Amino acid sequence: MKNKTVLKNYQLKIKKLNYHNKLYFEKSNPAISDSDYDKLKKEILELEKNYKFLNHNKSPSKKVGFKPSKLFEKYEHKVKMLSLSNAFDTNDLKNFEKKIFNYLDKKIKLDYSVEPKIDGISASLTYINKKLTVGASRGDGKIGEVITENIKTIPDIPIKIENDNFPNEIEIRGEIFIRKKDFLKIKDNFANPRNAASGSLRQKDPKETKKIPLNFIAYTFGSFQNNNFKLQSDFLRDLKKWGFKTNKDNKILTNINELIDFHKEFEKKRFELDYDVDGLVYKVNDLNLQNRLGYTSNSPRWAIAHKFSADSANTKVIKIEIQVGRTGALTPVAKVEPVNIGGVVVSNATLHNEDEIDRKDIRIGDLVKIERAGDVIPHVIEVDKTKRSKSSKKFKFPTICPSCGSNTIKEFNTVTKKYDAVRRCTNDSFGCEKIAIEKLKHFISKEALNIDGLGKKVVEKFWDLNFIKKPQDIFSLDYNIITNLDGWGTQSVNNLKNSIENSKTVSLQRFIYSLGIRHVGIENAKLISDNIKNISNFIDLIKSKQFDSFLNIDGIGETQIKSLKNFFSNKSNISIVIELSSLLKIQSQILNGNGILKGKSFMFTGKLDGISRAEAKSLVEKNSGSTLSNVSKNLDYLVVGEKATNKKVEQAKTLGIDIISLEELKKLLN
Ligand code: IVH
Repeated sequence: MKNKTVLKNYQLKIKKLNYHNKLYFEKSNPAISDSDYDKLKKEILELEKNYKFLNHNKSPSKKVGFKPSKLFEKYEHKVKMLSLSNAFDTNDLKNFEKKIFNYLDKKIKLDYSVEPKIDGISASLTYINKKLTVGASRGDGKIGEVITENIKTIPDIPIKIENDNFPNEIEIRGEIFIRKKDFLKIKDNFANPRNAASGSLRQKDPKETKKIPLNFIAYTFGSFQNNNFKLQSDFLRDLKKWGFKTNKDNKILTNINELIDFHKEFEKKRFELDYDVDGLVYKVNDLNLQNRLGYTSNSPRWAIAHKFSADSANTKVIKIEIQVGRTGALTPVAKVEPVNIGGVVVSNATLHNEDEIDRKDIRIGDLVKIERAGDVIPHVIEVDKTKRSKSSKKFKFPTICPSCGSNTIKEFNTVTKKYDAVRRCTNDSFGCEKIAIEKLKHFISKEALNIDGLGKKVVEKFWDLNFIKKPQDIFSLDYNIITNLDGWGTQSVNNLKNSIENSKTVSLQRFIYSLGIRHVGIENAKLISDNIKNISNFIDLIKSKQFDSFLNIDGIGETQIKSLKNFFSNKSNISIVIELSSLLKIQSQILNGNGILKGKSFMFTGKLDGISRAEAKSLVEKNSGSTLSNVSKNLDYLVVGEKATNKKVEQAKTLGIDIISLEELKKLLN
């Protein structure tokens, strides 16, 4: 890489890190997961290692945190509060030890003090003459905040020491954290337990801090006059004698293999603990050696944090719930003991379907490994069958719908000649409560009627209140009653009324899509509406059930036709269409075609600024344009947003298709 590119890349990463530091340390509200943060930091350090000319005063190699918040008085730490470097695998650990041997210039047998790394907030407690005089936060490691009064509200922290052998002047350091069970009570307000602890600790009013139960575990010292301790483990032992809590899982291990084995074991045990841990800390137990090894610019040479894998965690299946979706699919969901996976608290994991449960033999009470990668819904990767109790029983998947009690079936797929993995409720209309609610949510969704004043939560509420049981009920809501409901007012009711009124004018395509017929998505709805032209033809068709004529439409096949037949074999679905057709202004495809984009086709790629894909498509359609999902010579415009797919742009260029931005599309529309 050219030096200029490297520098630019480096500066960008520093800027990003700074931004996230601010969110994390000052606002207690991180926007990225801890592992992504660690990755970013590692990338910067790596660049600095490979390109010696890189040097930035905001580099993570030079600082450990963010400057203290303006809310509190500043406190200069007598001994810097540094952070730990991280190890992720055996190799990192071997390197850590090798560096120690290099530094000491000989290979010696090392004992390690192994301590769970609680994911909380570090704090410094200064005791003079057995009294707590200052409680401070870490801040940027050099300067912290005085939070003595808040700290004094934590029951684990002794304000006065009773033990006779307590040093006259000592600064004790440890971790402030919230227990998982306490976090559950307040989880709606914070991203994770660490944030809850940090937020609570930084309350201006100590009474607010006291409301959230915080805990403290001590693990090291800062400034310490007349320190006669020889070993970290001796210090930990005395901390306990003096009345501090220490971690009961602390232990001494004597080589890397032991560390690795214990790490494996403890990583599995994580979920049994009542607090979040993100790894283990290994410290050279000999304090004299610690002294000799000293520090690099921001971390000790004598300690390392061996992190747990970030995107998976072990937990326990509490129960298996069966959710019923819009198309009647029964989806099993594992309710698990909440675990923090990469900074996010996970308490549900999808089990996909009946076959998946069978294949993995997932049972209630099982200890499982859960993975959360990217935006994917957390799922179970494996079951630890060795920990299974003898009385555990195979999970029996229900054969009747848990919502309406109807029979369920696994359909036979004529194409694959196999039975579907998914079991479905056969009551595929508004007779099954769960299906009905999901159908209503689909009806109002963006690509369907797009009633944005009526969100998913409101649909559920109005269902419970018996206001909406079928789609047509939306158009006869009693707004006077709604105005008097909790959380509603004239303004919000007006918004609702307006968005319902606006939704009444709808294209035939969107209308067909809004019915939520299985296998009839927005694209197929377009094919059908192009073919059938207007709503009265559509009604004739669903009454006569002559769906086989659709076989001529390119793109519509047996699967869709079977699904249409099935859907309209239910009389109530026919009457819903008829009722809606009298309430709505369903535009025929032809009448719809006189807008400014008439005869022009568009395709979108990349993220559009300030507008969703669905909305952009609808904008084109409203103006009589059409949208395509492939680049072909039939395409007129490719609208390109941020991070567009290169391949599509290249194809469009080759075919001589106009490539335009969202701004240019808007200009086309005046
Ligand atoms: S020793 C220089 N011991 O980890 C020594 N830290 O990344 C650093 N932590 O700020 C402190 N458990 O918040 C130490 N047993 C333990 C720890 C621990 C958690 C946290 C602490 C520190 C961070 C370092």
